[in-house]
Amino acid sequence: MTDAASLKSDLLAAVEGAADLASLEEVRVSALGKKGRITALMGDMRNLSPEERKERGQLLNALKEEVGQALESRRDVLKKQELAKRLEAERIDVTLPTRPEAEGRIHPITQTIDELVAIFADMGFTVAEGPDIESDWNNFTALNIPENHPARQMHDTFYLPNSPEGQARVLRTHTSPVQIRTMLKQKPPIRIIAPGRTYRSDYDQTHTPMFHQVEALVIGEDIHMGHLKGCILEFARAFFQIDDLPIRFRPSFFPFTEPSAEVDIGCKRSGGELKLGPYGDWLEIMGSGMVHPAVLENCGIDSSRYQGFAFGMGIERIAMLKYGIPDLRTFFEADLRWLKHYGFVPLDQPSLAQGLTR
Ligand code: PHE
Repeated sequence: MTDAASLKSDLLAAVEGAADLASLEEVRVSALGKKGRITALMGDMRNLSPEERKERGQLLNALKEEVGQALESRRDVLKKQELAKRLEAERIDVTLPTRPEAEGRIHPITQTIDELVAIFADMGFTVAEGPDIESDWNNFTALNIPENHPARQMHDTFYLPNSPEGQARVLRTHTSPVQIRTMLKQKPPIRIIAPGRTYRSDYDQTHTPMFHQVEALVIGEDIHMGHLKGCILEFARAFFQIDDLPIRFRPSFFPFTEPSAEVDIGCKRSGGELKLGPYGDWLEIMGSGMVHPAVLENCGIDSSRYQGFAFGMGIERIAMLKYGIPDLRTFFEADLRWLKHYGFVPLDQPSLAQGLTR
């Protein structure tokens, strides 16, 4: 029996000496595992007489029990120690001051574009892009504005030297050439918006030589002016966040749409102040119309099968209206005080679910 007695003191010492949970597990396996020392002694009982086996069995069971309990209480102690160590290591000083708010601001133009993208993405539009340096053909000719057409004069175009291939080039005067680019490479149905920079040689309180527009284009098999109207109404109410904002269509002319309409939103003007809403007065915000069949044909789209609508508006203009920014030119003066005042906190990403602006 001395083997059992010395095994017991051996094992209990090993349990007490285990410095962490991993070495305690090793002790457990060496005693009670398949090839453990207690397990081996139990195996040896096969060769004993029944009486001896009974006695030996009780003894070994008691040993097993005792070692098991020792293991368990040691495990409790070690677990508590490890937790205490972790808590100490991961301690947080809750008295530290918070981090200062980010200094940077999102420019109102970028903010407005993000809002436009959120609104139109929700209506199933994707974002298309085109270059600032555009071919004369994409900017004018394909849009049904032939050379020497008076409409070209309306645009105060910046003309550029021809491309190396001899192609006439301009700084795009509107985002409408992205309509052409899109229709040339994509088959209907088409539903895109194209925000971006545009250029006209003009400078006063309401004009800067560079400004931004957003274009929308929808082409499909049964598209009519009702869709145009519904889409613009939905956009205007979502963007200006006024549920009963009325819109009005006035007949107009653009060479690339037929019929064409200018779109007004409701407002009132009193004491030099402008307020948007159903107040009886009107303010123009965009040009629109059904895509001219000639434009569809210029892009290889069968105008007897497909129709569509398009509209375009100035981004600075709608940003000024929404955010009460009085002077267009300040957008491009890169004055940090202005940006701090009119800019947006970078983490507030516009979304329809969480609100466009907070
Ligand atoms: N491109 C026109 C402009 O710059 C706006 C417009 C776009 C009108 C699409 C009709 C359709 O004034």
